[in-house]
Amino acid sequence: MAGKIQIAPSILAADFTCLGDQVRAAEAGGADQIHIDVMDGHFVPNITMGPFIVEAVRRVTQLPLDVHLMIEQPERYLKAFIDAGATSINVHVETCPHLHRTLQQIRELGAKPCVAFNPHTPFEMIREVLPDVERVLVMTIDPGFGGQKLLQNTLHKLTELRQVSRILQNELGIGVDGGIDVSTMPIVLSHGANFFVAGTSIFKAPGGITAGIAALRALTVEV
Ligand code: DX5
Ligand code: ZN
Repeated sequence: MAGKIQIAPSILAADFTCLGDQVRAAEAGGADQIHIDVMDGHFVPNITMGPFIVEAVRRVTQLPLDVHLMIEQPERYLKAFIDAGATSINVHVETCPHLHRTLQQIRELGAKPCVAFNPHTPFEMIREVLPDVERVLVMTIDPGFGGQKLLQNTLHKLTELRQVSRILQNELGIGVDGGIDVSTMPIVLSHGANFFVAGTSIFKAPGGITAGIAALRALTVEV
């Protein structure tokens, strides 16, 4: 996926009374993936959705489903989410004492392993697994809610990831999640991100979902 800028609308900000229509609109509007935020009320102070939502979304779109597990002991639910249709699974380094094993399990179950880390978690915490992941998800907010402001002091992690990616010469996905909109998109782009999760700026865009995606897309320059 390196080289191609990916935009992944987060359905956390969607209107759940018509979730199917919202996902179809995102696909028609040019989304590359659909991002699904799973929260357990323990690792983060919010409760959202389980595998049944992934299964429902799987039935209305052809797009890859990127599942973000903000839950304790995520290894207990990998199979359920992958069976439900997850294409990639993001686990948090903060929840995985045996991270290599968990990433390996995701791959063996047929999904792409990705690792996420919180704003205050040092880059060193993920360095050892970089050869084993498809993508890193740099949390640019403290996870738990949509609509928060991007924390600028997370951006140096993108620069480090880009450097490591060059050294490894792999196609490491460099993702950002939280507070991505038309004002922050150019900043994270210039720091090397190539995968953008956006909830509020797409599903609550004043001009609608298609306009929200188009506004972000217009800021990307394919190289
Ligand atoms: C927050 C989630 C994000 C969230 C982003 O914990 O991981 O994916 O949906 O929402 P916005 O784009 O509104 O900051
Ligand atoms: Zn997320």
